[in-house]
Amino acid sequence: MRFNNIQAIVSVMAAAAIASTEASAADLSSPGGIVTVHADVVGGVPVYSIDYKGKPVVKTSALGLELADGPDMTGGFKLIETTTSSTDETWHPVWGENSSIRNNYNELLMRLDQPEHYRKMNIRFRVYDDGVGFRYEFPAEGVLTYFIIKEEKTQFAMTGDHTAWWIAGDYDTQEYDYTECRLSEIRGKMKDAICSNASQTQFSPTGVQTSLQMKTDDGLYINIHEAALVDYSCMHLNLDDKNFVFTSWLTPDAQGNKGHLQSPCHTPWRTVMVSDDARDILASNLILNLNDPCAYDDTSWIKPVKYIGVWWEMIGGGKQWSYTNDLPSVKLGQLDYTSTKPHGQHPANNENVKKYIDFAARHGFDQVLVEGWNVGWEDWFGHSKDYVFDFVTPYPDFDIKMLNEYAHSKGVRLMMHHETSGSVRNYERHMQKAYDLMDKYGYNAVKSGYVGNMIPRGEHHYGQWLNNHYLYAVTEAAKHHIMVNAHEAVRPTGLCRTYPNLIGNESARGTEYESFAGNKPSHTTVLPFTRLQGGPMDYTPGIFEMDMKKVNPQSQGHVNSTLARQLALYVTMYSPLQMAADVPEVYNRFMDAFQFIKDVPVDWDESRYLEAEPGRYIVAARKAKGGDDWYVGCTANEDGYESALSLDFLDPGKKYEATIYADAKDADYLTNPQAYTITTKKVNAKTKLKMKAAPGGGYAISIKPL
Ligand code: NOJ
Ligand code: CA
Repeated sequence: MRFNNIQAIVSVMAAAAIASTEASAADLSSPGGIVTVHADVVGGVPVYSIDYKGKPVVKTSALGLELADGPDMTGGFKLIETTTSSTDETWHPVWGENSSIRNNYNELLMRLDQPEHYRKMNIRFRVYDDGVGFRYEFPAEGVLTYFIIKEEKTQFAMTGDHTAWWIAGDYDTQEYDYTECRLSEIRGKMKDAICSNASQTQFSPTGVQTSLQMKTDDGLYINIHEAALVDYSCMHLNLDDKNFVFTSWLTPDAQGNKGHLQSPCHTPWRTVMVSDDARDILASNLILNLNDPCAYDDTSWIKPVKYIGVWWEMIGGGKQWSYTNDLPSVKLGQLDYTSTKPHGQHPANNENVKKYIDFAARHGFDQVLVEGWNVGWEDWFGHSKDYVFDFVTPYPDFDIKMLNEYAHSKGVRLMMHHETSGSVRNYERHMQKAYDLMDKYGYNAVKSGYVGNMIPRGEHHYGQWLNNHYLYAVTEAAKHHIMVNAHEAVRPTGLCRTYPNLIGNESARGTEYESFAGNKPSHTTVLPFTRLQGGPMDYTPGIFEMDMKKVNPQSQGHVNSTLARQLALYVTMYSPLQMAADVPEVYNRFMDAFQFIKDVPVDWDESRYLEAEPGRYIVAARKAKGGDDWYVGCTANEDGYESALSLDFLDPGKKYEATIYADAKDADYLTNPQAYTITTKKVNAKTKLKMKAAPGGGYAISIKPL
């Protein structure tokens, strides 16, 4: 069948090849002339390079793919034609850091022939003032119909031994602390960088994940990531640490292949952001702009969410998701609980959930997440994992009807939880019933999770098959007007522009690790440069009790942050979904500081990055959506930080009152994290503020018009 097709297409292609003439290399600059791409075919190999203000950022780098089922697409190419076009448009996200986003780029399309194999391939570049996106496109014409990728061979040749903020390449976890070092030092630091719970599939002693942030010795900030990861496997970067050349390294499937494609199709965008000002990297919309516009006609049901949850009691407090200690027996995929006894440490019970609902209602939260509400947790890592959860059967002490009615009567919703335990076949088997149950009881948001090895066995969290699943879960949820916050799913690549009911992901090391081991104090000064480039993170800030031994004597963790910095994270870690992650008892002890969490919005008209340096400090200011209030947040690493803030972003015609939540003089993330001061001050657009963040500290300011 396939050969017949090839025969037919071969003759068409041969005619086309004769008619075409070879084109020559092309240069294309961004609209402001800041970034330039040079694209060419040299010795049959497609190549590109990138300059910023005349300085090389990416040296001449090869492009191509190796195929598992045919000759490679790495050479033998002829450049047939280059065409250029320009776009300048403004669009309005459903939620976001800014209410309008400008998408302004020049585009270069390189049409290539591989005459020996009668194939065609296009490479499309979009050149912005803050970086470049490019992707491979496989048109319908040509003999390439079904094909299997052995490896994508996209190079990113760096100009030197840059400083990098990186996490180890891994097909199954992104939950690492960042390491800061020179590219040449990655190999030596890899062993320590791989944390104890890393998956066994770390592939190369110089392999890293994206989004990768770098800085050159002459002060250029460079970031490599990808945009619009759809029906393809997620990219890592493998470093040649003699020459400082990264090459793409895709996540394999269970057979070791890296993607099954059918033309017409294209890869995700490969992105290179660049600026001489770190703040521009944080403010960049490159990744969102490279994604398609919103796929839904009606988005009125998509609403940012501030929530609390029956969660930290288990994560930090050592209590259980399960209802009983007895392993249920499994018969034909059905769990049998008839002989089980409760162990009495199950926080997802009626009385406790009502307490959280009352607290949420009193303090203006939208939702209450309840984890451990459904049967299956006794065995979620165990032998019956392929069947473990059905996502519709509550434990006996969780009255789903009563609790939802109780919540709704108080203007609060419950948030659904679907831990799949990596058993994705099982989740897909139950998904429609699970979403129907949510409709029935009035849930409109689900936190899902993919902990553990994948089933089907041998598949990896970031492979093509799973990436398709994550998107399927989101688009099916949309049919039910359900918003999704997926943990352990693939790192985001801006798909929330197209599918804005994807309101959150974890996909990095979140606050939960503070309770297991502690995160580096610099962690939240790196994440906005890296993980947050692709979309919001459910970082779950707001922990006020840092000494985890007080929460659970068994705990080995310490929250490596001051209390004031926990407030700042609501501003510096942009997300339309924000949790106040600590327990009501702790918040009741610090109601004055908790006021900031109550006040801070989860959606914005405008955002500014005032001061930033990866791994050191980030200061952001944001204006509330549809309001005049501004919020400022600063997070610092273990050295602390002193800001010289100018409030010139305020409306010059208005007077404001600022409430300043700052580290006390003697605050320190290790020795005195709960020491904070709250002061008020009249301010206006001319005000300058000297602010100090303690080691591992920060500050948060709310500014309201008088
Ligand atoms: C890991 C998630 O990150 C965490 O938030 C969740 O509570 C557990 N898995 C259980 O689903
Ligand atoms: Ca997690």
